[in-house]
Amino acid sequence: MSETAQLRVDGQRLWDSIMAIGEIGPGEQGGSCRLALTDEDCEGRNLFIRWCEEIGCSIRIDDMGNIFARRAGRSNDLAPVVAGSHLDTQPHGGKFDGIYGVLAALEALRTLHDNNVTTEAPVEAVVWTNEEGSRFAPAMIASGVYAGLFEKDYAWAITDSDGKSLGDELKRIGYMGDMTCGSNPIGALLEAHIEQGPILETENRQIGVVIGGQGQRWFDLTLKGQDSHAGSTPMPGRRDALVAAAEIISMVKLLALEYAPYGVGTVGQMSVMPNSRNTIPGEVFLTVDIRNPDDAVLAEMTQKFKVCVTDCVNELGVECDIEEIWHCPPVKFDTTCIAAVEHAAQTLGYSNQRIVSGAGHDACQVCQVAPTSMIFVPCAGGLSHNEQESAEPEDLEAGCNVLLHAMLALANS
Ligand code: GLV
Ligand code: MN
Ligand code: MN
Repeated sequence: MSETAQLRVDGQRLWDSIMAIGEIGPGEQGGSCRLALTDEDCEGRNLFIRWCEEIGCSIRIDDMGNIFARRAGRSNDLAPVVAGSHLDTQPHGGKFDGIYGVLAALEALRTLHDNNVTTEAPVEAVVWTNEEGSRFAPAMIASGVYAGLFEKDYAWAITDSDGKSLGDELKRIGYMGDMTCGSNPIGALLEAHIEQGPILETENRQIGVVIGGQGQRWFDLTLKGQDSHAGSTPMPGRRDALVAAAEIISMVKLLALEYAPYGVGTVGQMSVMPNSRNTIPGEVFLTVDIRNPDDAVLAEMTQKFKVCVTDCVNELGVECDIEEIWHCPPVKFDTTCIAAVEHAAQTLGYSNQRIVSGAGHDACQVCQVAPTSMIFVPCAGGLSHNEQESAEPEDLEAGCNVLLHAMLALANS
């Protein structure tokens, strides 16, 4: 038996750290609101760095604001085994989505530190910038730049709804680092995360061994009709952009149902102009998110979606501009990393099963350039992107132990 086989993380310390970060940017109903590159995000990052420095890690920050905290190994020329996720949240976010993966990585490093364990390759905890895509769309932007999927200039220029750019906000909070994003090699990346769906809870399994992620396509739609008086404009001949939006919303739902159970479709954001109760809305902006684990089926869904939108707006005398702002194809994770996670779960005696992620994750970007896998733990009712999001401390601890032992196996192999 190896000398590290008995190592276990401190589940209480992991839980306390998650709760401590959750206090930064508290939500109104028990969750968190820490949108990317806000002052709250900055405060969360600062706390993470302080914790990493307390255990002797060295910190590097790249020019997309990704933070890498390194615990040196015996052979520091080897590419590190990296674990982590994101600290930004949705506007009504929970305390666990992303945060768990970052603090599980920290807890693994703390456990190595407490036990004076040095790995062969260095090990690192990472925080990726703007995973959620809520303030700056698309999602997973900084891991996407790391993986060469987005140009950095494009990422820096993305603006939020107030017109502030991602690059300026990175500088403002002091997280435009001096390392070139993507220049630091990753030997392997592991990301622990709550499942954000109901499968593990339903199947009564403690660990999901994640073998890949489903594909997603994001669209911005601008509908242009005509502002007109709500009282004196006859119903025939109106060019009501909001009526068109309403039809598109139900059409997206029907389209997803046609591809059940794997197809999903969501309109999550909308703005109405001029947004006055007695003016027929002349312009509407809305977002559409369509997902499927099979890229060919996702393409078919996209094609049907575009045809339906065109038919609908033509009938209503409304013009529509559809811009596809993001296509993230389905991904398959690395067999060696999957095996490391599965072996750790089995050796530790945790019930487990293989699973495909419904949500997007930084690991789904980085897997293009480095071997990658993920570890899922159940969350109550499969609920996420909701302040009520919750997970059991024992499950979080189990996932963290799997992470620790998978990291050890990869870093010492
Ligand atoms: C990330 O949270 C996603 O939208 O899947
Ligand atoms: Mn997440
Ligand atoms: Mn999320």
